[in-house]
Amino acid sequence: MPEVTYLNGRLVSPSEAVIPVDDRGFLFGDAIYEVVRSYRGRLWCFQRHMDRLARSLAEVNMEGVDVEAIGRAIEETYAASGLPDALIYLQITRGVAPRSHHYSAGMTPTVLITVRDITAAVGSVDPNGVTAITAPDLRWRRCDIKSTNLLPNILAKTRAHEAGAYEAILVHPDGHVTEGSSTSVFWVRGGAVCTMPLGPEILPSITRGVIIEIARDEGLPVVEARCPVEQFRKADEIFLASTTPEVCPIIRLDGKPVGDGKAGPITLRLARAFKRRVEAGDDAPRE
Ligand code: PDD
Repeated sequence: MPEVTYLNGRLVSPSEAVIPVDDRGFLFGDAIYEVVRSYRGRLWCFQRHMDRLARSLAEVNMEGVDVEAIGRAIEETYAASGLPDALIYLQITRGVAPRSHHYSAGMTPTVLITVRDITAAVGSVDPNGVTAITAPDLRWRRCDIKSTNLLPNILAKTRAHEAGAYEAILVHPDGHVTEGSSTSVFWVRGGAVCTMPLGPEILPSITRGVIIEIARDEGLPVVEARCPVEQFRKADEIFLASTTPEVCPIIRLDGKPVGDGKAGPITLRLARAFKRRVEAGDDAPRE
């Protein structure tokens, strides 16, 4: 149960937090979302999350949402939780209407915000590294929209868990690695920090953006290019990046060690620098 729930303009008790059966988020996954976290009472990368939210809303033509008002609602809901380290989930659906595939103009979106303690979610990630499997990327062709149509992601993540792994790293039908089922993916080759270029195949991850800034600040070469899965398997280091597990080393992939099977030096350096940015509250968007 979330510690605090906001639904359509007010804080509600668990029994009042009810979504109508004709909500298009429920019927069609016609909804977008954000996941924001706080560190010691401060919302991290908040402006960046709000910018991505505005983009997602525009990309799915969802009208009638005041992004600034949503921002204030998140701040107020978070404040009501009193939690220093929280995971804040926002979902906006197109709203409620008798079921029909096409949507009409002028609908009233449903806005849900939940706030939970993040400690348990973060505690399950071993900082020394976790394991991953590869899985076919069955997702639609607009993965850059933070949409709640997550069925392929859910199937891949469950497959990873059943294999005793933390994450499924998705492989595009063309054979290159895209991202994790709920994380961005980086790999290190010859000292360069590599990741997929932005585009419709991956989510413009907030953490990915911060890691690229950090790598550049550290003087490390950054390469944004597609990587065939065969080459990916030979990377010196692999790590995930996301709001929840932050920078997370992958030490085994499909049962085989990555590099020497331990969290690599560049991954650890970036993870330390990421922590320093969090400590400093250094998250303003850069041009
Ligand atoms: N997921 N790629 C995918 C497919 C994701 O779902 C996520 C985040 C990321 C990392 O994005 P960010 O750095 O903005 O968290 C990459 C969130 C945390 C979730 O669904 O819970």
